[in-house]
Amino acid sequence: MAEQLVITAQSKQGRYEELLPQLKAVVEGESDVVANMANIAACLMETFHFWWVGFYRVVGEELVLGPFQGPLACTRIPKGRGVCGKAWEMRRTIVVPDVDKFPGHIACSSESRSEIVIPIMVGDKPTAVLDIDSSELNAFDETDRKWLEDIAALFTI
Ligand code: SME
Repeated sequence: MAEQLVITAQSKQGRYEELLPQLKAVVEGESDVVANMANIAACLMETFHFWWVGFYRVVGEELVLGPFQGPLACTRIPKGRGVCGKAWEMRRTIVVPDVDKFPGHIACSSESRSEIVIPIMVGDKPTAVLDIDSSELNAFDETDRKWLEDIAALFTI
């Protein structure tokens, strides 16, 4: 596995292009899912300096907090609740340009202004979600969705 992350691009697209193969190498070299979640959260934070990046794992009828980078977060989210619970239930990515306008948004931090949540599917089964929060409004677009879905797909390898 790589000793350190190397990102030289300035653009968002360029950064994701450099990041994905490095994350792929990390995940291919390690079979432990929690270890891989921890490194992916760390690399996303190091590359983009989001407000919060982390994983919630499906445990029964709830999401339970997994590896993350950023401030203290809520630990359990019921199915269908908040952005994370909805993305899990609907099995699709949800982009929230303004969290104050998302009915049922769970405010773990008052600094969070926009959010993207990507379900992690193993076969047809959602096993976790990748949740990213920004302190800026409207931080996430189609570029983020495309690349973060590719990152989430690394877990099926
Ligand atoms: N805002 C999320 C809760 C998790 S925190 O952002 C870390 C939600 O509404 O599901």
